[in-house]
Amino acid sequence: MTLIDGKKTAAEIKQEIAAQVKEMESRGERAPHLAAILVGHDGGSETYVANKVKACGECGFRSSLIRFEDDVTEERLLEEIKRLNEDDAVDGFIVQLPLPKHIDEQRIIRAIDPEKDVDGFHPVNVGNMSIGLPGFVSATPAGIMELLRRYGVETKGKHAVVLGRSNIVGKPMATLLMQKSNPGNCTVTVCHSATPNIKEICREADIIVAALGVPGFVTEDMVKPGATVIDVGTTRVPDATRKSGWRLRGDVDFENVAPKCAFITPVPGGVGPMTICSLMMNTLKAKKK
Ligand code: GUN
Repeated sequence: MTLIDGKKTAAEIKQEIAAQVKEMESRGERAPHLAAILVGHDGGSETYVANKVKACGECGFRSSLIRFEDDVTEERLLEEIKRLNEDDAVDGFIVQLPLPKHIDEQRIIRAIDPEKDVDGFHPVNVGNMSIGLPGFVSATPAGIMELLRRYGVETKGKHAVVLGRSNIVGKPMATLLMQKSNPGNCTVTVCHSATPNIKEICREADIIVAALGVPGFVTEDMVKPGATVIDVGTTRVPDATRKSGWRLRGDVDFENVAPKCAFITPVPGGVGPMTICSLMMNTLKAKKK
């Protein structure tokens, strides 16, 4: 069994990016600049955004954090997005999701200039990805593809099972894995809450990408020997032994599943650090455009 070390891979990529930024600056160019809009005080979102800002520092990027309270209006957010779209000193920006219920998330996403949409959530970027054209790809699936590439996981002709159909992970993951590319070229099955025979389908999988948000969902009896298991789950579960009172748990019962696998990602330290790394790669790409 090979443990896919996302933390180590992400650190290597951030070093590669930082070297490119140094080179840019030595040519007299300014460093890439990522802005993030954060609405409210959700613990998870606060952590994600703080980690993104920290990663910008590690890559030598400039970053700006723009905060709004929970009661911000949709119009005010749209105004801020317009300002960022027009600001030549900002290469890319993200609006951290989820947003409060009174805000139409899709309307917000559509307002972002696709050229600055480093999250790859705008329909133009989603469309470009689905027909194999260049553009920004959603950070989590892009990070997983990078891990498969760097660890040399054989994907051509393999059966990949994606658990979950979210716009951020499941759907783009399935699209990328089926693309005629390397990694890619898989036969893909997408399972979701209405799939009756998930266990049986998983047992047929050479590659499982678990992105359901159900801690420990993938158990040992669902995994074929020699399979590759990618765990996207990051649920906070109570843990009295931690100072914080919680720890992160993935969608895979790691302890029992890992011995059966050819490759597996841990939680934490697997997909999570790569997601942020992909955002950095997208921001560098936005700067170069
Ligand atoms: N919420 C959960 N994941 C993400 C992400 O990748 N980007 C943004 N903007 N919000 C998220």
